[in-house]
Amino acid sequence: MIFMIWKRHLESKDYIIREANPRDARQIIDCMQSVMDEKIYLVGEYYLLTERGEQERLKNPDELTLVCEINNKIVGVLTLQRGFYKKNRHTANLGIAIMSGYRGIGIGTRMIRQALEWAMDHGIEKVNLEVFSSNKNAISLYKHLGFEIEGIRKNQFIINGSYVDDILMTIYTSESMKN
Ligand SMILES: CC(C)(COP(=O)(O)OP(=O)(O)OC[C@H]1O[C@@H](n2cnc3c(N)ncnc32)[C@H](O)[C@@H]1OP(=O)(O)O)[C@@H](O)C(=O)NCCC(=O)NCCS
Repeated sequence: MIFMIWKRHLESKDYIIREANPRDARQIIDCMQSVMDEKIYLVGEYYLLTERGEQERLKNPDELTLVCEINNKIVGVLTLQRGFYKKNRHTANLGIAIMSGYRGIGIGTRMIRQALEWAMDHGIEKVNLEVFSSNKNAISLYKHLGFEIEGIRKNQFIINGSYVDDILMTIYTSESMKN
C-alpha cells in the first residue's frame, strides 16, 4: 500500500534519464539481469558481458545507452544499437528494460522519446525492435509512440510452455517527429 502511494507520487523530477558511462557497467548488468530473471520479457536469460566487457561496450560511439536513475540506483536501461554495416547504418535496434516496481510510471516513454531524438540527431532514419506477442503492455506503449508492426515471426519462442510470436516493430524517425 505504501509502495502504491509512493508510486503514484513519483514524478519525473524524482528520476533522471541520462547517457550511461563506463562507471555504470555493474549497475546496468544488475538491472538487466533482474529483468532477465523474470524470464517472460527478454530472450536472453543471462547477461553475456562481464563488467569489463560492458565498460568497453559503453565506449562505442555508435551505440546509445540510456539509464534511468532513482536515488543513485539504476532502475532502467535502454540501448540503441546502430547498424554495423554501410548498408544498414541508417537503422538501429532498440532494447529496453525497466526493473519491476518502477514500471507504468512513464520512465519507458521518456527513455524511448529521448532515444528517438538521439537517432534523429545521428542520421538514423529507422528504429527497429522486437517484442514478444505476449508482452501486451510493451506493444501498446510502442504503438502509442508511433511504432508500427512490420512483420510477425510466428511461434518463434516458447515461454512457459506456450508458443509466442516475435513481433517486429519499426518507426521512421522523421515521421515520429511529426507527432
Ligand atoms: C515495457 C516497458 C519498457 C514500458 O516502460 P514503462 O516505463 O513501464 O512504461 P510507461 O510507464 O512509460 O507506460 C506507458 C504505458 O504503458 C502502460 N504500461 C506499460 N507497462 C506497464 C506496466 N508494467 N504496468 C502498468 N502499466 C504499464 C502505462 O500505463 C502507460 O499507458 P498510458 O500511456 O496509456 O498511460 C517496461 O514496462 C519494461 O521494461 N517491462 C519489462 C521488460 C520489457 O518488457 N522490455 C521490453 C521488451 S521488448
